[in-house]
Amino acid sequence: MKTRITELFGIEHPIIQGGMHYVGFAELAAAVSNAGGLGIITALTQPSAEALANEIAKCNDMTDKPFGVNLTFLPVVNAPDYEGMVKAIIEGGVKVVETAGNNPVQVLPALHDAGIKVIHKCTAVRHALKAQSIGCDAVSVDGFECGGHPGEDDIPNMILLPRAADELDIPFVSSGGQADARSLVASLAMGAEGMNMGTRFIATKEAPVHQNVKDAIVAASELDTRLVMRPLRNTERVLNNPAVEKLLEIEKEKGAELQFTDVIEQVAGVYPKIMLEGDMDIGAWSCGMVAGLINDIPTCKELIDGIMKDADEIINGRLKGFQAA
Ligand SMILES: Cc1cc2nc3c(=O)[nH]c(=O)nc-3n(C[C@H](O)[C@H](O)[C@H](O)COP(=O)(O)O)c2cc1C
Repeated sequence: MKTRITELFGIEHPIIQGGMHYVGFAELAAAVSNAGGLGIITALTQPSAEALANEIAKCNDMTDKPFGVNLTFLPVVNAPDYEGMVKAIIEGGVKVVETAGNNPVQVLPALHDAGIKVIHKCTAVRHALKAQSIGCDAVSVDGFECGGHPGEDDIPNMILLPRAADELDIPFVSSGGQADARSLVASLAMGAEGMNMGTRFIATKEAPVHQNVKDAIVAASELDTRLVMRPLRNTERVLNNPAVEKLLEIEKEKGAELQFTDVIEQVAGVYPKIMLEGDMDIGAWSCGMVAGLINDIPTCKELIDGIMKDADEIINGRLKGFQAA
């Protein structure tokens, strides 16, 4: 399939694996890229710029296809070494950077000077327009369904994607709630030129996370996610578990007085324990409603090949059939 996204990133299929904390390691990024999509390493999971450089080198050893690095800009007091990370990205020959969180304007000149394409993840049309105006090459439009941080507007992709199509000139991909060929074809119909998947890619053979995480996603239904930290305006969609129920109780008790420190036990530093050790109930971890559509643990190649084959059948079979006289 050829879209402005496949052309921009030099990939075969318009499918991107979004950056994911403690999931987006070289093993997953390389597997997605080798399958013809765009795999993405998550920079902030690495403890330093030097460690990120090593992860990029490892990915370069595992694939000769383009892959990306996610740079998430968080509202934190002690900012990570973004400058060092950008240097590692450029020196590692990375072709694409996925930015997320705050406005990425400070890293754009260095990345563009190095010929790197930038796709910014946005949860609102106004943020997508801002990304376009500062020179991002593409955007990921992340709807309310998404695993992770859906923003505070709560606009699902059925509305958000056509709204983005009406406003944007640069190409965009759908993100949030995407799982299969139906997602891809629907996204294309609504004006996107590809799709970004997070949760779906965790439940793959190559995702270097504990089997318990993959099993939890397969077992979950679309009813099993919760929104946490809304009172802090840092909303996150997570899979429900006892720690999340405790967190929501604390939120209810504290009301408008809630501080980050009140819920720190449930959210801070829990990712390595969950993703690497499979300690599933220790805290809150991002997961999309799309878990309800995930029933298997294929390889990335099986997943992507299946999506492209089924998409062809939907477009040239089911949809064409509706047009028959
Ligand atoms: C476990 C997990 C961790 C994530 N970590 C990050 C992150 O560090 N930075 C980021 O930009 N997005 C992160 N995301 C969001 C994904 O990149 C993607 O936008 C989102 O998962 C799309 O929604 P979906 O899960 O419905 O496919 C994360 C998502 C999940 C499920």
